[in-house]
Amino acid sequence: MSNFKLKKPYRHFLDLAALSPDEAREIIEKAKALKTTATEDGHGKGFIHPDRPLADKGLAMVFEKPSTRTRVSFEMSIHQLGGTAIVLQGNDMQLGRGETVSDTAQVLSGFVDAVMLRADSHESLLEMAEHATVPVINALTDFSHPCQVMADVLTFEEHRGPIKGKKITWSGDGNNVAVSWIHAAVLFDCELVLACPKEFCPPTQVLEWATNNGGKVTLTHDPDEAAKGADCIITDTWISMGDSDADERIAILAPYQVNKKLLDSAKDDSLFMHCLPAHRGEEVTDEVIDGPQSVIWDEAENRLHIQKSILMWCFGK
Ligand code: CP
Ligand code: NVA
Repeated sequence: MSNFKLKKPYRHFLDLAALSPDEAREIIEKAKALKTTATEDGHGKGFIHPDRPLADKGLAMVFEKPSTRTRVSFEMSIHQLGGTAIVLQGNDMQLGRGETVSDTAQVLSGFVDAVMLRADSHESLLEMAEHATVPVINALTDFSHPCQVMADVLTFEEHRGPIKGKKITWSGDGNNVAVSWIHAAVLFDCELVLACPKEFCPPTQVLEWATNNGGKVTLTHDPDEAAKGADCIITDTWISMGDSDADERIAILAPYQVNKKLLDSAKDDSLFMHCLPAHRGEEVTDEVIDGPQSVIWDEAENRLHIQKSILMWCFGK
């Protein structure tokens, strides 16, 4: 999506596929620095940035779907960088009564400095970005979840060092988070093996995009094969927000559960990650998600640190 309506150096953050490898790396390294600086400055868990680099910036956070992590981490991020957030539920806005996304985009652009959108449809996100004159951030759509996967990469590197050349395994639904992982595998030059049932594979055009961009991304229907030698195993709920036919999905996805047996196929020190919320006993067992290889709480907290870096990047800071 074009950035032509934005005053340089402002930028949208819509999808990892729109970033260059250098830009993606810059955001990760900035997040590491922001996290360290804030704690070393003695600000403890507050993670307040001493220089308030986004002082007086306003962020509208628009949610067409529920959220815990994204909402709290973005609201705290902009606050800790010196700015302010306004949380808007889609159904409480005129958007929920039929005001168009494009009109909403132009109105919000007159009030705030950036818009974060969690949208039912990716098309709405693109429409918001097309018509907004301030940066727009993808906070999850039915297609992708780039903020989440940037936090995942940060978490992996904190625990295991550079992700380049490492083997990441995805087992389960080829959903929005899986799509952003495909994008990330290309940007960060890691191997990604996705084990998904034929009914719930990631979109073909995303897999083709990865191949055309030199990605080491493969798709299989065999989770045990996919997990062999993995440095990290990742999964997500089998029933994403907006999905129907829960019983059918659970039956089809059952063989892709991340349990102790699957984790044992990976490297001995393989990590386990999950964007949360988890449906324990479905896509992952308690033994794995609460086990020593799971880094889910760090992964969740890193949403805070990566959102700060994404916000700074959008403002060219
Ligand atoms: N992982 C994630 O985006 O969580 P929320 O839906 O709680 O924001
Ligand atoms: N795939 C999930 C992710 C939730 C953070 C969903 O879209 O509901």
